[in-house]
Amino acid sequence: ARVLLVTSEAVPLVKTGGLADVITSLAGALRRRGIDATVLMPGYPAAKERAEELESIGELPDLPGGSGRLLKGVMPGSDVPVVLLETACIDARTANPYVDCQGQEFADNAQCFASLSHAAVSICAGETALPIPHVVHANDWHAGLIAALLKLRQIDNVGSLLTIHNLAFQGNYPMDLASALGIPDWMLTPDEMEFWGRMSFLKAGIRHADRISTVSQSYANEILTPRFGHGMDGLLNVRRQDLVAIRNGVDTDTWDPANDTLIARQFSLADMRGKTSCKRELQMLFNLPVEPFAPVLAIGSRITHQKMADVALRSLPEILTRYPRAQLVLVGRGDREYEQGFMALAERFAGRVGVYIGYEEKHAHALHAGADMLLHGTRFEPFGLTPLYSMRYGTIPIASRVGGMIDSIADGGLSGPVPDNANGILFDGETADDMSTAVSRAFELYAIPNEWHAMQRNAMSANFSWDPPAEQYMALYREIAPAHARALF
Ligand code: ADP
Ligand code: GLC
Repeated sequence: ARVLLVTSEAVPLVKTGGLADVITSLAGALRRRGIDATVLMPGYPAAKERAEELESIGELPDLPGGSGRLLKGVMPGSDVPVVLLETACIDARTANPYVDCQGQEFADNAQCFASLSHAAVSICAGETALPIPHVVHANDWHAGLIAALLKLRQIDNVGSLLTIHNLAFQGNYPMDLASALGIPDWMLTPDEMEFWGRMSFLKAGIRHADRISTVSQSYANEILTPRFGHGMDGLLNVRRQDLVAIRNGVDTDTWDPANDTLIARQFSLADMRGKTSCKRELQMLFNLPVEPFAPVLAIGSRITHQKMADVALRSLPEILTRYPRAQLVLVGRGDREYEQGFMALAERFAGRVGVYIGYEEKHAHALHAGADMLLHGTRFEPFGLTPLYSMRYGTIPIASRVGGMIDSIADGGLSGPVPDNANGILFDGETADDMSTAVSRAFELYAIPNEWHAMQRNAMSANFSWDPPAEQYMALYREIAPAHARALF
């Protein structure tokens, strides 16, 4: 059975967030089950540089914004085949795939990602050297047009699934671009892809995909409500029969304290001495005094409004003042204003706060391995991989009670006895106080070694394997594949 996974990013080629991690591990998990999963993504210069065994497999002359070319290769370090789409606008994305150095969205994002969808549909139509997939699995708004284009071209021998990794990103563009992108006028109505006077790539996908999935059960429930629906809750409710939740997994080879070659010293539940070394290394990396008993609080994520960077910036001064021994390390990149806020915090609390503004895999591993707790405030969280990575290293997450966090973290509570199964702390609300209260609770528990070690054991033994979700995706593919191919899944 053949599945084409269409995405804008995938590790180790290009990554700005969790989507990239998920695509490559899902493709691998499917392939281990005998599914011929191939990834289709834009051939950003970085992706072309890193992909192995690349060869040209043909031209696509009529994409929005010019002609394109498909290159086929494999992901480094795995057997996952990858097809890269090369166009002039994709070639120009030398740093971030979506925004320029000033953080502004590229002016031709609409053309760029419409081309990605058109390329996917050409593959589905049998117009390329690639075999026709049985299912096309589109991810996020970047691939949102696929299902609509399949309908337009009356291609009905390929099932379509749209996975929403983040409903806040919707790909909404001026409607006057439509004809240049191959979208007919009749698709620009409110029933179709019109969204607040613009056309929405994501809405087109939600409207037309055979099935829609998202990455945790709690997020699937939340997006049906106005608070979390980002204006799409109405349409999602119309399609709720076809909305499915399949949680993500964690790549347990990459995030494994016993085999992680990016950390100072490996460790495991049976022998935690390596964690002490990792903590020392982390403190040294951030020029903090090496104090084995000081609680080290970490933040590692995009620093944005979604990730409550503003709330953290209000809460942390209070926390650091109240707990004079505590240390803070941050590895992150995001909105300029928040980045500056964290740099100012490091100056104000010199010797207690270490900040690395940048995107760096090695630092992320050092942080998860060496810290005692990970602060992960979020206004919404479809799944949330980072807190789960930290748990693998016995680093206790302090997270907002939203989305995937509800499903994957067993809450130790803000007061009273800690439940036996607890592996983290959850908090409600979006104020500095809400966050500070949760961090204080974690600091209190950290001071009681028995309680803390029990939570660490629970965190490290939690199972986020890709096996159950991969099986669920296969069951879903089976439902939407053309009749003759169902038995193949
Ligand atoms: P999201 O996709 O919303 O950003 P996730 O927690 O699901 O949230 O995934 C984030 C991914 O990006 C994780 O793999 C995390 O390690 C990585 N990441 C985020 N910021 C950085 C950074 N500054 N340096 C390295 N990796 C980062
Ligand atoms: C998104 C979400 C995150 C999720 C990731 C992978 O970027 O914000 O919660 O883990 O996609 O599905």
